[in-house]
Amino acid sequence: MQYQAPPGPAELPLFGSAVEYAEDPLGFMEETASRYGDVARFELGGREVYLVTDPEAIGRVLVSNKENYRKPDSVDRPAGELLGAGLLTSEGEHWREQRGRMQPAFYRDKVAGYAPAMVERTEDLLESWHDGQQLDVHRDMAELTLHIVVDALFGADLAGMERAVGEALQVAGEQFRPDPVLMALPDGVPTPGERRYQRAIADLERVLRDVLRQHERGTGVEGNDGDGDTESTEDETLLSILTRVRDAGLIDDEQVRDELMTMLLAGHDTTALSLTYAWYLLSKHPERERRFHRELDRVLDGAVPTAEDVPELAYTQQVVTESMRLYPPVYSLFRESSEADVLGGYHVPADTLLFLPQWVVHRDPRFYDAPQEFRPERWTPDFEAALPTYAYFPFGGGPRRCIGNEFATMEATLVLATVGSRYELDLVDDGPLDLAPSLTVHPENPVEVTVRER
Ligand code: HEM
Repeated sequence: MQYQAPPGPAELPLFGSAVEYAEDPLGFMEETASRYGDVARFELGGREVYLVTDPEAIGRVLVSNKENYRKPDSVDRPAGELLGAGLLTSEGEHWREQRGRMQPAFYRDKVAGYAPAMVERTEDLLESWHDGQQLDVHRDMAELTLHIVVDALFGADLAGMERAVGEALQVAGEQFRPDPVLMALPDGVPTPGERRYQRAIADLERVLRDVLRQHERGTGVEGNDGDGDTESTEDETLLSILTRVRDAGLIDDEQVRDELMTMLLAGHDTTALSLTYAWYLLSKHPERERRFHRELDRVLDGAVPTAEDVPELAYTQQVVTESMRLYPPVYSLFRESSEADVLGGYHVPADTLLFLPQWVVHRDPRFYDAPQEFRPERWTPDFEAALPTYAYFPFGGGPRRCIGNEFATMEATLVLATVGSRYELDLVDDGPLDLAPSLTVHPENPVEVTVRER
């Protein structure tokens, strides 16, 4: 059977859709999907891009025919330099081995063990808040989640470096802006902001060296019996797993650096965004906010939350889920086909760039009633059971799904609960958020709130 190419604005002369895409990537993807359907085709920087918004076809790319779809170099190029051969950007056997080694730091029991650190770091933040204060909630959430990753996964303390690290990570993150011109550039061509970017990488590397020194001073050499990666112990952190594997000669210092850098970047900004959007949405929906507060008062009754409370905090969890539906911090996955394939009944040539946009699928009226509305209570067990797989995929899917999924969900629930028990956050400006998609989708401007003691 002869399959056809999908419809779409691919036929536009010269620049294709580059200008429209660069101006408003999220709007452009929404518009293209609604006009042309589940698999649409457009052109970006001289390349054809397939926009895939059908959950079944997304499942084929991520799971049932996953061998055919790799992460694309063209989109990840700046990432390659920052993250090297870390978990997010590596492929093949090397990725598989590293994922297996690091996975124990993310087992469910292990993640529950991080709960006290998550809550303590949140309480540290609240020490600096007072009634009536105005602050940029995104900046505070970013510092907090950075603190938590470094404490829980590295067993280290940034000792006042949070703001500098946060800023360097932001400079680095900006390099991922999905600019079609950047995507089309061959490797080795310097990109705008390159010098700032290089400085940011150097700053981050300095901080990571310091974290490693702290770790080595803390454990001494006696912590390492040199018998390689055969056994892991109860109190191992992700960092001690990595240094143990390195000391056994299975990976080198560079690999340790790449994994730490990946965790810093992937592990804090995404969760900070999910929290920022949750606060934004709660402040805009006072009835939902009241329900959230009622749950906290009932379950916690003034006490700090623990991992055991999380299953009881059902509405808080629904708030997290619904916030990530409307504002998925990772707004699209990117893949490249190796061989030709068929998706949604359309022919996909070899070496095609694919966008699988959570942003569009999560707002599709076929799956969500009143999709633009913030309704945490829609997430009943029945609703979840009836939802097609990959109609909701904030953490991706298949073997490359987010390793930090449970970590992030626990963290977001505990941070919301700890803060929400004591403070209500009121947006200073009630208007819509201007969003800037780079590697993640960010608010363009500070998200100013007034914090009020409850
Ligand atoms: C709300 C928070 C988070 C969101 C929305 C998120 C989202 C994602 C997504 C969509 C992917 C898959 C990317 C792809 O397939 O192309 C991913 C991968 C990854 N995430 Fe997360 N993430 C979050 C939190 C975290 C945390 C807390 C960590 C670490 C502590 C983390 C570490 C990683 C790593 C290492 C990968 C690569 C996994 C692999 O390829 O084996 N993420 N994340």
